Amino acid sequence: MRNLFWLVALSALMYSCGSAGPKENLAEEPAMSEMERAEYLEMGSQIAQRSFKALSGKLKAEISENGMEGAIAKCDLYAASTIDSIQKAFGVSIKRTALRTRNQENKPTDEEKHLLKLYERADYAGEELKPMLLIPDSSTVKFFSAIKMQALCLNCHGEPGTTMSEEIYAKIIEKYPTDKAIGYKLGEFRGLWSIEFKR
Ligand code: HEC
Repeated sequence: MRNLFWLVALSALMYSCGSAGPKENLAEEPAMSEMERAEYLEMGSQIAQRSFKALSGKLKAEISENGMEGAIAKCDLYAASTIDSIQKAFGVSIKRTALRTRNQENKPTDEEKHLLKLYERADYAGEELKPMLLIPDSSTVKFFSAIKMQALCLNCHGEPGTTMSEEIYAKIIEKYPTDKAIGYKLGEFRGLWSIEFKR
């Protein structure tokens, strides 16, 4: 079943990328040894994990100090500075993206949107969501891994009136009038880490 997902994912990618942009065509993906692939997957996973820990650590500290509302007010600021310092430390670019975003700056590219849909479908089907690599050219490696909803996240991305308070939702809408990042359930696929390495 798992293999089937990746087979479908791969062929869907080849199909769409073949028609969209020749640079993204997987059939022409530059060669990379299995060992190098494994190394990039490992590095990507570690950077994503570190970014996640740093972000949720700041989030928890902010919530206990200034409450949920304080955290909402500062969320984009600390997300940007946390991610920026990790980007610099590893010489990579890091992004969090989703099909339904809160912050317009996190909107997916066409390529990311395509991957998000594949991951979302796999999540609905109960598949394991594994990290993946795309190698568009000889100097670029793109890493993607799934972000899932945890209990803490529901406070700001749950269902207003049930898993998330109406008051918090009102605060969020005030700051992000185009917010679409609500209605998520515990354990659900929320989005992707999108990390780009230069070789
Ligand atoms: C205090 C409220 C709050 C909590 C709790 C919270 N978020 Fe967010 N989240 C936000 C806000 C505000 C943004 C938009 C600002 C930004 O880019 O960080 C956001 C943005 C995001 C994004 C980027 C995509 C987008 O929608 O713009 C992801 C992914 C995300 N959150 C996942 C999570 C996950 C996973 C958790 C739990 C570990 C979580 N959030 C907990 C408020 C919150």
